[in-house]
Formats: sequence, structure tokens, C-alpha cells
Amino acid sequence: MATPRLFQIFLVLGSAFMVLLIIIYWDDVGTSHSYGHTPFSPGPKTPHTPPQQQQGPPQPQQQQQQQPQQQRTTRAPSFLSDIDAFVNQFLELGTGEPTDPTPADATNQSERAEERYVPRREWKIHQTPVAAELQHRQERRRRRLQEMCAEDSMWFPGKNSSFDDIPNKALDHLIVDDRHGIIYCYVPKVACTNWKRLMIILSESMLQDGAPYTNPQAIPRNMVHNSSSHLTFNKFWQRYGKFSHHLMKVKLKKYTKFLFVRDPFVRLISAFRNKFLQTNDNFYNRFAQSMLRRYGNQPTPPALASEAIAAGIYPTFPQFVQYLLDPETEKDAPFNEHWRQAYRLCHPCQIQYDFVGHLETLEEDAEHLLRQLRVDNIVEFPASRGNLSAGHSVADWFSAVPPDARRQLYKLYEPDFRLFGYAPPEAVLEE
Ligand SMILES: *[C@@H]1O[C@H](CO)[C@@H](O)[C@H](O)[C@H]1NC(C)=O
Ligand SMILES: *[C@@H]1O[C@H](CO)[C@@H](O)[C@H](O)[C@H]1NC(C)=O
Ligand SMILES: *[C@@H]1O[C@H](CO)[C@@H](O)[C@H](O)[C@H]1NC(C)=O
Ligand SMILES: *[C@@H]1O[C@H](CO)[C@@H](O)[C@H](O)[C@H]1NC(C)=O
Repeated sequence: MATPRLFQIFLVLGSAFMVLLIIIYWDDVGTSHSYGHTPFSPGPKTPHTPPQQQQGPPQPQQQQQQQPQQQRTTRAPSFLSDIDAFVNQFLELGTGEPTDPTPADATNQSERAEERYVPRREWKIHQTPVAAELQHRQERRRRRLQEMCAEDSMWFPGKNSSFDDIPNKALDHLIVDDRHGIIYCYVPKVACTNWKRLMIILSESMLQDGAPYTNPQAIPRNMVHNSSSHLTFNKFWQRYGKFSHHLMKVKLKKYTKFLFVRDPFVRLISAFRNKFLQTNDNFYNRFAQSMLRRYGNQPTPPALASEAIAAGIYPTFPQFVQYLLDPETEKDAPFNEHWRQAYRLCHPCQIQYDFVGHLETLEEDAEHLLRQLRVDNIVEFPASRGNLSAGHSVADWFSAVPPDARRQLYKLYEPDFRLFGYAPPEAVLEE
């Protein structure tokens, strides 16, 4: 008499749980099996709370005894591996705090599997609060963004539009990590290679010999910048169809959003030196040749970047400025991302960033951010190589640029200066 009734209750509870499971699964994992990118999709903002499964049927617990590494060894996830991924999100072991138990599955799955766990347990996790000075700095930067976005005296294209008005292709700089609930808007020439590396590690979106990368520097540079290595907002349309904007908004609301910026003129100088003073056939053919033709009195510039460099023929910085100011430039295509304004890449008036890093304070900001994201026990920001401020001063670079062009250039980048709190470069503007 009592047994069938108990069985009935169990059956009903079990079914309800399965339905819930399916709903959560479809909502979060969605159609990721049709998209060969990240084997994992869902992830709570606070890392890895242990499952609460008192009312669950026994099946999921049995599955949890499996090794998480098994499905990680396949690059293209199948439907089954998605289910594994779903189950495995509950399996993610702890936050790496010293009290974490040794993972039960770290036996002899593979050498790589062990490597994956050892650093996590050894690495520091900070218990002390972040210095008040750093917290105030972030409050100031966030408040400044809000004030500038509300400020009527400053206007730039797209300022008044809503998030829904942003064209899909303009969302291609927003990288999502669903595992930890992080959104990073990358601005080229602002340490973006290293931040992209960390996003790959955190989202476990790339495998090395069947295991996710753990060392940021081991990821090949060309793959760091290959868009197929990252899940970006502009890919949601293809993946989630008409739900994509809804999903983006949910993620924007729940996830921690950050970006890094730097002094806009210093960023331009950095882009110029990196793309035009070094041998780079891609940028030479796409941009330098036409600059030389249009502004450099070179009707037939050399065919290859190496030839041009060898012959001492390359665009000068004033010619680069002329190119940026030429109304013809954006008629062909929007600015290349290396010199496109940060406000056009990251939409700071539509997206409320939780953290605004400056390259000028990179080390402090990186440490603060990783702690705020609660991933400072998993990843470390790679130590910067070389001298960020090496070379001539900004005023030196602009000395050959006509004063009028300097002021026009400032107008073009003024929103970035003001939004992100960089003082107008008086030394360049006053002549
Ligand atoms: C683990 O596997 C390696 C080979 O992959 C083997 O050399 C080693 O003895 C194994 N360790 C244990 C504890 O079984
Ligand atoms: C943008 O919006 C503000 C207030 O909402 C308004 O005062 C301003 O005129 C608008 N600017 C443009 C160019 O539409
Ligand atoms: C980017 O990666 C994909 C997949 O690994 C590869 O097919 C493609 O050729 C890469 N693109 C570039 C430009 O390297
Ligand atoms: C970086 O370069 C600048 C200018 O050349 C120099 O003044 C500064 O000392 C250098 N910093 C380091 C850490 O080498």
C-alpha cells in the first residue's frame, strides 16, 4: 500500500526534476552542438557552488561519478557531450581554496588532467579585501562614464541609441565567458592579446592535446586573435536566432563586464608603430599603399612590405593622421579596429561596465579585476614585457602634424578622452 504511493511520488518528483533539467539545459546550452566552439556554456557568476540535489532522482549522481576529462578530449561537441558538459558544471571542483579536497578523479586519467588541477590548488586566493584606493578608482571611472553618457554637451554617433539599435556586427568585440560569467570588450593596442589569452583559459574554449590550455603564454598568438577562438556577442544571432538579444541582455545584467582603455593619442601612436613601422604585409597592402599613393607622392609604392621597409618607404605619422581625418576613409569601411575609437568598439553608454581598466595602471587594475572576478586562483595576468612608454613623447610624434589637423584629430577622439577620463593633450593642442 505505502510502497506504490511512495513510488508514485518519487516518479512525479523525478519527472519534475527532469523537466527542470531540460529547461535549464535548453535555455543555457541552447544549440551549442551546432557550433564547434565551446564545449561548455552554462555557468553561474559565483564559481561552482556544490549541487543541491536532495529531491533529485539518483541518475544524475551516478553520472557525476564520471570523469570530466572524458568529454573534454573531443573538440567538436556532440549532443551527448553537451549533456556531459551540463552535468560537469556541477562537478567543477571548488574554487581552488586550500581546503578543497583532492579531486576524486585526479587519479590516472591522463597526465594533463593532473596538471590541470595541481596549479589550482597551489595558487593563492586572496582573502583580504581589495585596497580601498583601487575600489575608489573604479567607482570614479564608472561614475564618470555615467555622467558623460548623461551629459548633453557631449555627443557622438550612437550615443543616444539603445542596446537594441547596435548592429550585430558592432557587437564583435564583446567576448563572453559563460563558465565564470564574464564579458570582456577588447580594445586593440590595450593589452588585448593577454586578456584574450585569459578569456580562452577561463572559458576552456581551446584544447591542447585534449585538455584545456592552462598556461596563457602557450596559446599560439595567431589563435589568440582568431575569432573562432572566442564566443562573441555577434555570434549569438546565428546560434540563438530571435532569442539572441534577450539572451545578451540577460548576460549583460548578470555577468561582470570589463574593458581596458588607454590614452587615445598614445594608442594611435602605438597602432602606427606596430602596423606601419614593422613589416606587416597585411596592413601594408590594405592601408599603407593607399596612404602612400594618396598623401605620400608615391604613385607606385613597392608591392611588399619588406621591400618598402628596406627602401625606407613607409607612411609617416602625419600621413597616418591625414588618413584618419580624410572623409573618404570611412566611406570605404569603418576604421580598422586598431584605430577605431573605444566608444565605437565597446558601446559604454549602452553597456554598464563593472570594471574600467586603464593601461597606464595595468598591473594594479589586472590584479584588482581578477580578484573581483574571483578567478585570481585560476589565472594570473602575464607579466608585461618591455617598456610600455618607450619611445618619444606624444608631443614629439605630433611635432610634424599641422596644428589644425591635431585639433581635428582631437575632435575625432574626444569622446574617448572624456568618457574614460583622459585629460586633453594640451602639449599637442596648444601651438
Ligand atoms: C598513469 O599512466 C602512466 C602512463 O600514461 C603510467 O606510466 C603510470 O604508471 C600510471 N600511474 C598510475 C598510478 O597508474
Ligand atoms: C540625446 O538625448 C538627449 C536627452 O535624452 C537630448 O537632450 C539630445 O538632444 C539628444 N541628442 C540627439 C542628437 O538626439
Ligand atoms: C581560425 O581557426 C579556424 C579553426 O581552427 C581555422 O579553420 C581558420 O583557418 C583560422 N583562421 C585564421 C585566419 O587563422
Ligand atoms: C621606459 O622608457 C622611458 C623612455 O624611454 C624611460 O624613461 C623609462 O625609464 C623606461 N622604463 C623602464 C621600466 O624601462
